[in-house]
Amino acid sequence: MILIKLGGSIVTNKQRPLTPNLSAVNKIASQLRRIREPLVVVHGGGSFGHYWSVKYDMHTKPAKYDKRGVSVVKNSMVELNKIILNSFLKYKINPYCLPPTDFMRGSKSDPKKVKEISKIARAGLVPVSYGDVLWHGKNKFYILSGDRIMSILAKILRPRLVIFVLNVDGVYSNMKTKKLLREIKGQKLSVSEGKMDVTGGMHRKISEATAISKMGIKVFFVNGNMPKRIVDAIKEKKFEGTVFK
Ligand code: IPE
Repeated sequence: MILIKLGGSIVTNKQRPLTPNLSAVNKIASQLRRIREPLVVVHGGGSFGHYWSVKYDMHTKPAKYDKRGVSVVKNSMVELNKIILNSFLKYKINPYCLPPTDFMRGSKSDPKKVKEISKIARAGLVPVSYGDVLWHGKNKFYILSGDRIMSILAKILRPRLVIFVLNVDGVYSNMKTKKLLREIKGQKLSVSEGKMDVTGGMHRKISEATAISKMGIKVFFVNGNMPKRIVDAIKEKKFEGTVFK
């Protein structure tokens, strides 16, 4: 099985609130169609979920957030999810809409439910989950990022490969020269970036990728603007991006 995260930076236009990047989504869908292995997809919030989370000051920490904010963030993620599902249908992938409430209880995952995801994928459908705002209990809610979902799913589903699809080539060793780090193997990274988003941006992606690679699973960071690279990575052809070992 292959577990793929489509980052918000690639499925939406982060510069413009509530704007999907339809051409990128469609191009990725047309490539994913070529994959002959069970596939599970997770997508981020980008200019949908993040936009509203910032407006309503909502974070990954469970708290008593504005109820209106909870509704609006959730609604925006359903909207983005629908856009991605439609694109998958158009490109002859059979998506299976999978809100994280299907396998989360409060802030913990339900292992039995997670295992069902594997059966759905093996039956030939592509479960598509997403970062969301979730009920925590005791009147509190929290933002569950798509990156966090990736390590929750990886731990139980044990995919052959985990891929984070980004809007950049991978992890750069230097932001100025954009020199790509091709392999990250156990080294500690000090990550700096411009603007952080509500779930921690690239920093969060690197820490989740590191956690997954420590489970003994190979993790790739790939540029979604060149979606053929996703298929090449899966088919173990030429690899362009960063690999976490
Ligand atoms: C964001 O998920 C979820 C919400 C803000 C509701 P992610 O944190 O995984 O999104 P991206 O990929 O960084 O945009």
